[in-house]
Amino acid sequence: MRYLTAGESHGKQQTTIIEGIPARMPITQDDINESLLRRQKGHGRGKRMQIEKDLVDIVGGVRHGYTLGSPIALVVHNDDFKHWIDVMGEDPIAEDQDIRRVVTRPRPGHADLNGAIKYGHRDMRNILERSSARETTARVAAGAVAKTLLKQLDIEIVGYVKEIAGIKAEEKDLSIAEKARISEESPVRCLDEVAGQQMMDAIDKAKKDGDSIGGVCEVVVEGMPAGIGSYVHYDRKLDGRIAGAVQSINAFKGVEFGIGFEAARKNGSEVHDEILWSEERGYYRRTNRLGGFEGGMTSGMPIVVKGVMKPIPTLYKPLQSVDIETKEPFNASIERSDSCAVPAAAVVMEHVVAFEVAKAILEQFPHDQFPKLKEAVDQYREEVRNF
Ligand SMILES: Cc1cc2nc3c(=O)[nH]c(=O)nc-3n(C[C@H](O)[C@H](O)[C@H](O)COP(=O)(O)O)c2cc1C
Repeated sequence: MRYLTAGESHGKQQTTIIEGIPARMPITQDDINESLLRRQKGHGRGKRMQIEKDLVDIVGGVRHGYTLGSPIALVVHNDDFKHWIDVMGEDPIAEDQDIRRVVTRPRPGHADLNGAIKYGHRDMRNILERSSARETTARVAAGAVAKTLLKQLDIEIVGYVKEIAGIKAEEKDLSIAEKARISEESPVRCLDEVAGQQMMDAIDKAKKDGDSIGGVCEVVVEGMPAGIGSYVHYDRKLDGRIAGAVQSINAFKGVEFGIGFEAARKNGSEVHDEILWSEERGYYRRTNRLGGFEGGMTSGMPIVVKGVMKPIPTLYKPLQSVDIETKEPFNASIERSDSCAVPAAAVVMEHVVAFEVAKAILEQFPHDQFPKLKEAVDQYREEVRNF
């Protein structure tokens, strides 16, 4: 299974094409819209999220509520495009007209300057329109299809916020269903109400100060049988694939599984998870400090992965940069910006993890027809339990 996305931030639409979803899997637009709307929520999001309500148009690969086995094409229209036709339209511009809203001033922390150097663009709008996190809309759409598949295989996944600007949510013993419900009710997707309020205050303060703040998101996957992924090659290790996918989300700077970097400071006896067996559960681990992975494969324990998001780089408080035409220093211009997008990023992370997990499942089991896939996964679960 793979997917590609296309589209510019202020262009006509975001497009996603997914190949490899089995035929005869039930799916509706609502399954995808729910995810898209979740990405747009969150305390600290700017005006754009209010201007546009992202809704998907399924334009290929689905008929009468079922997948066909052909590529699935998804479109999310940019309602705002009508105001941007002169700037972002695909037609050549007349010789007597100037290109509008040219950007010659790269913003620190963005792709602007490196992208301009790489592709030889003097107008950095050609970079920032695509490097913008608007593209995560298309990635969430792909992940929503993956989530729909996982759900029907009894694999649940949820993303939420662990930390914003150094304020940490207290660890709570909650079921995955409770985590999903509580994070949905929290404007910052935090499972700890007290910390959640402090996070909102920190976001408001950052906004007032013209600054931005980052944080840590966590995604949990439950219901994965043991032995998904592989140890035989670097690019078959599922933890490696998930880490790459999470790191590739705009503004993500690091990934941890389970106790993660803390493992460097502990003894082996405090890190590894002892193996137990019971009639009811089959094999399981006494603890889950390694976050559901050993040897690039699932252990059958929940996958627990964290991603670190840096503070958004576009600040109202300007940072110094250099105009590429004049080479003069200037204070980086302010584009419309959020002060904190960590709650939205948790939704994005949930969906990119869902895609990698679903992809690994499809690689391991017969994947042309959904009912056969489901049968094979259920049978495998039974085999694993009695192994
Ligand atoms: C959900 C989400 C929303 C974002 N919103 C903004 C934003 O409003 N303003 C901004 O400057 N950066 C925003 N970013 C981050 C930038 O897109 C990102 O920092 C930039 O593309 C450079 O990539 P890098 O940080 O991975 O190097 C957002 C990221 C995510 C995941």
